[in-house]
Amino acid sequence: GRAMRAVLLGCGTVGSQLAARLPQGVAIEAIAVRRWRDLGKGAVRVLDNLDAALDLAPDLVIDALPGCTEAETALERAVHAGAHVVSANKAVIARRPDLERAAREKGRAFLYSAAVGGGVPVLETVGALTARGREITTVKGVVNGTSNFVLDRLSKGERLESAVSAAQAAGFAEADPSADLDGDDAAAKLVLVARAAWGIDIDPDSIARQSIRDLAPGFAAKAAREGLRIRQVGRLARVGGGVHAAVRLEAVSADSVFYRVEREGNGVVISLKDAPGVILTGKGAGGVPTAASMAGDLVRLVAEHG
Ligand code: HSE
Repeated sequence: GRAMRAVLLGCGTVGSQLAARLPQGVAIEAIAVRRWRDLGKGAVRVLDNLDAALDLAPDLVIDALPGCTEAETALERAVHAGAHVVSANKAVIARRPDLERAAREKGRAFLYSAAVGGGVPVLETVGALTARGREITTVKGVVNGTSNFVLDRLSKGERLESAVSAAQAAGFAEADPSADLDGDDAAAKLVLVARAAWGIDIDPDSIARQSIRDLAPGFAAKAAREGLRIRQVGRLARVGGGVHAAVRLEAVSADSVFYRVEREGNGVVISLKDAPGVILTGKGAGGVPTAASMAGDLVRLVAEHG
């Protein structure tokens, strides 16, 4: 059939990489950015207004915006207009399970593989396992690349402010890096994993978390001298009819999978009932891995709806 008419919302770290790797079957009709900027995109229309892009009544809305109110409003509007959605907006999708449900009811796709793990196929793997009746019992993981990158640098004696600046410069950190440091980003990702694994919606605000900002200066470096690394670890466990979830700072030794997750890496351990578990590791943040994962959603979308 003809290509799907898409609008791309956001053209920063992720959006610009995605625009460079669009699969066949998707044609970008316009790119909308929240603040006007010359993207040098030639033939593609660039709008400084998300609503103007949605006024084009696209078949598909690709959301590469940071987690902001405008993104939430735009996704709401896209879903209610009956557009397919591909998004990486962890914070919004975690808070608003109704968006995915509404899209489903309209027979539209609402895909967000890149929302967890960056380039690591965490949600894809959880979905594939559960679709085959493999029962997941616990999931634990380093799911925020920025915090891992920062903790690695703190362990070498760097100060928090300069480690965070380096993560921002590298394009790993959220627009507001406190979401990374305080565990909010990891908590949102746990919500999405629990939804994929068990069909249960957790309120992200209910998840207990510890902040890297509360670590005493020099704590990570001292741990390193004792052979330990501090990691921000998210944990999910199916307990009775519910789910226990928490994001904690843990000191891990060399025999832990998480010890070897370095820089902006992610590492996820999935435990299964009556079977050995699965470990996934890879690049957890950054424009290229995240865009590659979104491009995977686009391929799936074209295959199923194109
Ligand atoms: N800020 C996020 C992180 C981006 O550092 O993991 C990827 O979700």
